[in-house]
Amino acid sequence: MKVTVVGAGAVGASCAEYIAIKDFASEVVLLDIKEGFAEGKAMDLMQTASLNGFDTKITGSTNDYSKTAGSQICVITSGIPRKPGMTREELIGINAGIVKTVATSLIEHSPETIIIVVSNPMDTMTYLTHKVTGLPKNRIIGMGGALDSARFKYRLAEALEAPISDVDGMVIGGHSDTGMVPLTRLATRNSVPVSKFISEDRLNQVKEDTKVGGATLTKLLGTSAWYAPGAAVSGLVQAIACDQKKMFPCSALLEGEYDLNDICIGVPVLLGKNGIEKIVEIELNEAEKAHMQESAAGVKKTNGLLDV
Ligand code: LAC
Repeated sequence: MKVTVVGAGAVGASCAEYIAIKDFASEVVLLDIKEGFAEGKAMDLMQTASLNGFDTKITGSTNDYSKTAGSQICVITSGIPRKPGMTREELIGINAGIVKTVATSLIEHSPETIIIVVSNPMDTMTYLTHKVTGLPKNRIIGMGGALDSARFKYRLAEALEAPISDVDGMVIGGHSDTGMVPLTRLATRNSVPVSKFISEDRLNQVKEDTKVGGATLTKLLGTSAWYAPGAAVSGLVQAIACDQKKMFPCSALLEGEYDLNDICIGVPVLLGKNGIEKIVEIELNEAEKAHMQESAAGVKKTNGLLDV
């Protein structure tokens, strides 16, 4: 199993590191446009192999896509990250051009690949990847909900004063500060609805903290986060590589599901060797449906800025 990660910045490198540590891929190729950068990150990571006990071979490439040939999974993290005070949507001008070039170059060398899009604004970049590659919809996956759900569980565990492994929950909708739909009604602590343990006000606070999860970190770090994004991507890659049929909320092209069409937005999907093997339609209440439609309107507005 060969995996390519484009962009050797913090998210790309962290993603390569988690993939390697989980030791399910034979090879990870890191590619970056900055001369020597991916090679350096790959070498540094390879020098952790004997310490961390993995056999995955990590190599680096300066913009030479021939090195990525035959990748079963390609991850696109390239583009600029947001700075404090910026929204993900403000990155579209620069990142759309980059994602377009990267996606096209990847397909040239790995026509059968499955693509995971991480670059922001992620739902729109996933939609753009569909438009420029024309790949079947099961083979393009946007990473957002897996990360947002991990942040949701972190906030839930904090509010419940519970270990994170006791907590389950999911965030659907757009990967943006206003677009996320944390499903508090369905969140549980060991199968018991979390509303049994915390007040509605506290639960609303969890919801709000989850939605600005990325912005909170950007303010603290001066740039966007990388550990949780990298770990979330590695989870998706593993689910596909190991044909796990695991459920994650991911940005998927919808054709009528959730009453939405011609949009990529976060919904629960099953990931296996064919990429998105099923879009899972769950029963939403009226408020959640309305929030989802509002979120979709926001994503469509950003999609409208694309030149496709
Ligand atoms: C974040 C970026 C990856 O939410 O969108 O941290």
